[in-house]
Amino acid sequence: MSLLEFIKKSPKAELHLHIEGTLEPDQMFDLAKKNNIQIPFKSIEDVKNAYNFNNLESFLKIYYESAKVLVKEQDFFDLTWAYALKCKEDNIVHTEIFFDPQTHIERGINFDVIINGIYNALRKAEQKFGLSFKIIMCFLRHLDESPCFKILDQAILHKEKIFGVGLDSSEIGNPPRKFKKLFKKALENNFITVAHAGEEGPPEYIWEALKLLNVKRIDHGVQCIKDKELVAELIKTQIPLTICPLSNIKLKVFKTLEEHNLKKMLDLNLMVMVNSDDPAYFGGYLNQNLIEIQQALRLSRSEIKKLIVNSFKSSFLTEIQKKEWINKIK
Ligand code: ADE
Ligand code: ZN
Repeated sequence: MSLLEFIKKSPKAELHLHIEGTLEPDQMFDLAKKNNIQIPFKSIEDVKNAYNFNNLESFLKIYYESAKVLVKEQDFFDLTWAYALKCKEDNIVHTEIFFDPQTHIERGINFDVIINGIYNALRKAEQKFGLSFKIIMCFLRHLDESPCFKILDQAILHKEKIFGVGLDSSEIGNPPRKFKKLFKKALENNFITVAHAGEEGPPEYIWEALKLLNVKRIDHGVQCIKDKELVAELIKTQIPLTICPLSNIKLKVFKTLEEHNLKKMLDLNLMVMVNSDDPAYFGGYLNQNLIEIQQALRLSRSEIKKLIVNSFKSSFLTEIQKKEWINKIK
């Protein structure tokens, strides 16, 4: 089996995926028309041209604007169902997805509309083709901590659907410590915690996420390499870092894929795996990320295998489920 075939055919887990980031331009246009929402684009070509980002901030501006087309429960269902079909295509058998309720609640969308649309689509995928899943609700770190408590209260009412809480949006200037009390309450209510840290921000933000938010995983974390003590800690604890290669290039965290530090992280025995982040914006779903990073860094078959095994090891599946999938990766 060629390496390309191995990548495509292996069962995989995806652990860093924003469901709003799977909104494809054609679906954006259809929803804008259906819900009578103004979007700042005239054509699909226009949208694609706009997807030239300088950094995280310039991407988020377009991302939040585009999300306005999502209004009805059916819209959230259709969005999630389309991603579930991509999972089937890419042989993703387990996915842990993020959603950002504050992006929608601010526009008057009901929390139940959002979570029920997303959850029902994933349940359908579980029943139809065995996709397993966890849902992680993210807080927008550019906003204040205090209004987040109301959102957390809503999540508590849907505890059976929401596995964990995370932290995303503009990183620099919004350190994890800003959300210490909120994450404490989330932990008291039995949500697991994760956080985006060290995407653009400094290693101190990764330390804070670990020590103050008690996270089980760091999303991105590529900046850890600047701090030797932190790298040693991450190797010792095997806290996973959910790496998103195409995202890092599109948002100019690295100039080129060839300069990405994924191989260095693998060589150091850090617990890393590959994810797609916001595939509709960054040029590819999970397999595309694996294929492009393999080529750019000349990763060997055993390194690819390691990344795929790590995707299960780093997931929130049970130890038995993890073992079952890992045994199937040949
Ligand atoms: N929201 C969606 N994608 C994100 C990313 N890569 N970093 C921070 N927040 C995000
Ligand atoms: Zn992300």
